[in-house]
Amino acid sequence: MGRQRPGLTTNKAQTMSFKLETIRSQFPALAETDDGIRRIYLDNPAGTQVPQSVAERMLDCLLKSNANLGGFFRTALLADEVVDGAHAAMADLLNAGSPDEIVFGQNMTTITLHMSRSIGLTMSPGDEIILSQMDHDANVYPWVLLARDLDLKIRWLPFDTESFEFDLTKLDELLSDRTKLVCVGAASNLTGTINDVETICRKAREAGSWAYIDAVQAVPHIQTDVQKIGCDFLLCSAYKFFGPHQGILWGRSELLQQLDPYKVRPAPDSAPGCFETGTQSHEGMAGTTAAVDYFAWIGETMGSAYYSKYADFSQRRKHVHAAMDCLFEYERGLAQQLIDGLQSIRGVTVQGISSADAQMRRVPTVSFTHDIVAPAVIAEALAQRNIFVWNGHNYAVEAAKLLGIYDSGGAVRVGPVHYNSEGEISELLNAVNDILS
Ligand SMILES: Cc1ncc(COP(=O)(O)O)c(C=O)c1O
Repeated sequence: MGRQRPGLTTNKAQTMSFKLETIRSQFPALAETDDGIRRIYLDNPAGTQVPQSVAERMLDCLLKSNANLGGFFRTALLADEVVDGAHAAMADLLNAGSPDEIVFGQNMTTITLHMSRSIGLTMSPGDEIILSQMDHDANVYPWVLLARDLDLKIRWLPFDTESFEFDLTKLDELLSDRTKLVCVGAASNLTGTINDVETICRKAREAGSWAYIDAVQAVPHIQTDVQKIGCDFLLCSAYKFFGPHQGILWGRSELLQQLDPYKVRPAPDSAPGCFETGTQSHEGMAGTTAAVDYFAWIGETMGSAYYSKYADFSQRRKHVHAAMDCLFEYERGLAQQLIDGLQSIRGVTVQGISSADAQMRRVPTVSFTHDIVAPAVIAEALAQRNIFVWNGHNYAVEAAKLLGIYDSGGAVRVGPVHYNSEGEISELLNAVNDILS
């Protein structure tokens, strides 16, 4: 990382050693302009920008290690290293017990559709799957399709539309001795709610069920520890955490060994290779490793205040987890600024947790609606000002229906990450104010 520059933008940032200017200098995309107008990237829940180091590592992989796996020659040996390195990096990011618990795939949705076939082989007609009404459809519809094919029963876990959180006594009511799987998101891509997945997984386990956790929207923002969560499967996507388009599954070792993989005959018989169908994107894996190394660099240079929490972790793992705590602290400030600003605009409703003392229970993804103006109209007007946001249900189909916004165009979703600044949030707020007045 030779592009480091000193300089802090806010006093608050200074106290926790978070160096925004140094961070931003790693991301070439942040300096791009269109017709001389700066870009403000608040579309991050749909995909983040990448640091230079990620793009460089991918290029390096393509130019110097481009071969298939398992050969005797130099490029094949280097490709093996790229693949092994990516499994080790993801094991560090998720605090996995072993790199063999990491399965790569094209994206979270494809991995889930694929794994659901193997998981389905352990189920019998009449068995039950609990699905959440808060989740992205990637952790909903693969299971609905499985239930259709195998004659399973779906039971729905609702969330409270006032608090935007689950009432977990409802989960107790749904769990039964027929429950085989509980599928829940760690953080919502629509409301931003962080769910208490530790308790959800404990309840599932006590009922004899596995827990399948969609952490796609949690991993970019909060420290994720599969051992602490106590889940059986956890998924994320590197392109949401400053890496390339790549999906990752962590699976509990004994379950990966026990599941029957859908694979071709010559493919490896043991995990993770037996679940990594076909030839993987080695350049994607190289980029994913670089994204984890980017977090490690943040932890090393800015995260010392959090090291004591991770004293038992080895070097990179400690730095990565300390980085996530450091980044989340900064992001909470952005989220509060954003929520306070939106709530001061007449006619705006924040579709998510908004109170200042509950910011630990949400990621900074903030969706809002307006009494009169449609989300698409607001998003388009923002795009004209070169401010990038998403609108609609964002694939959180059940959540948008439960909130009563599905038929009215969903919401405008503003998704800051740690490379966004208070100045950018102010610009967004001024623009929304202007558009709505
Ligand atoms: C919460 C959540 N889960 C799953 C997905 C799907 O991820 P992928 O694009 O890797 O399939 C998304 C994508 O936006 C998401 O936000």
